[in-house]
Amino acid sequence: MKSDSSVWHPNTQMSEWTKFPEIVSAKGMWLYDSKGGKMLDGVASMWCNVWGHSKSELVSEIIKQTKILQHTALFNLTHSSAENLSKKLINLNPKMHSTFFSDNGSTAMEIALKIALQYWRNIGENKKTNIATLENGYHGDTFGAMSVGYVPEFFSKFRSKLFSTLKFPVPRGFRIPKKMTVNEYQEQCVAKIEEKLEKDDSIAAFVMESGAQMAGGVIIYPKNFQNQISKICKKNNVLFVLDEIATGFGRLGSMIEYKKQNSTPDIVSFGKMLTGGYQTFAATLTTKKITESFLGEFSDMKHLFHGHTYTGNPTAAALSLKNLEMYEKFDLINKIQKTSKIFESRVGDIYNLDLVGDIRHKGMVMGIELVHDKKSNKPISFSQSINKVVFEEGRKNQIYFRTLGNIIMLVPPLAISQKDLNFLIDGTIKTIKSLSKKLS
Ligand SMILES: Cc1ncc(COP(=O)(O)O)c(C=O)c1O
Repeated sequence: MKSDSSVWHPNTQMSEWTKFPEIVSAKGMWLYDSKGGKMLDGVASMWCNVWGHSKSELVSEIIKQTKILQHTALFNLTHSSAENLSKKLINLNPKMHSTFFSDNGSTAMEIALKIALQYWRNIGENKKTNIATLENGYHGDTFGAMSVGYVPEFFSKFRSKLFSTLKFPVPRGFRIPKKMTVNEYQEQCVAKIEEKLEKDDSIAAFVMESGAQMAGGVIIYPKNFQNQISKICKKNNVLFVLDEIATGFGRLGSMIEYKKQNSTPDIVSFGKMLTGGYQTFAATLTTKKITESFLGEFSDMKHLFHGHTYTGNPTAAALSLKNLEMYEKFDLINKIQKTSKIFESRVGDIYNLDLVGDIRHKGMVMGIELVHDKKSNKPISFSQSINKVVFEEGRKNQIYFRTLGNIIMLVPPLAISQKDLNFLIDGTIKTIKSLSKKLS
């Protein structure tokens, strides 16, 4: 490693970095570094920040709860933070019945998978052991999550140790097969799923991100796609498992995205924005039918074989409850819908840039796909990683970027003001223009 620090950074070629900017504090939308510089948090600190940094109500809640009860296990015990948060989550998801808490999105998805697989064993349907999913999805970095959310660029090194899944293409408007309209492509994608689920009675669950694939490059599902899969699952006795970790709680413009999509999951996971982006926490919710299948005599061994040290941590749970209450108090979803229009109104400005091949936007996320030139649509490339180049150029314009391959992700804190959002978009435009000079 070139850096003199012993910290190994996530998804990072460490040899590219001699020093990482050191963030010493953050307030509102801004991250402040040790050299007196500042950057607007263009990725909501990995898509989780809701209100901006150092929001006093949330900080106070952490302090308040920390003074009373910092951590106690949920093994044999309970506490009001977990109880009240679960009630709130069920309130937001009235078709759900129980909440299993965990530490991060990946574990929330591992739990969803284990619950789905064990459900069929609990009710004696031992044949149902396969998982169906969409190509290009992402559900986290642990082995189960990698198996269902296989992004080849990320996970090919581990492929031999991943369990196999049935993968179906996802409809998108960019780079679709030649001589097909987007609608025809969507119909073909849905037909493939329907055909397989009708024939194959070994499928335990269909797992997908709700509303859009985020890490797969902001692939926003066309209208009715999720709803059609939901119906196909119900018709064919396959559990429908949704991942709202990155897309729920307002990121795509609605509090609960699956409701907007007119779809009904049997199991759904939330994370990221759950704590407002201040602590690590996640939740997996299940319907009554699923929860009750785990009941029986102890000797039946039907209970869920899963638990983490910090499952249901009181500080994170109290913080999450406070955060969700603030969504209502400040009518955040309404505000997001208004702010999102700024994104929409600026699409043309960004699309006009030479290096922009495609833009995908919904709610408070925008994916800007960089290409070498508009004619060939070849992905952009530099001698260094695209992320490093974009990050450094962005820093000059006071924006913190973290790209996904050749896609610039604009994922600001949800409560960003219209003025700050325009600052982010102006800085993005300046950054993309400056990239032209760096092309190899
Ligand atoms: C849709 C989705 N699911 C799961 C995860 C994993 O969450 P975590 O990074 O908290 O483990 C992510 C992370 O980006 C995600 O986008």
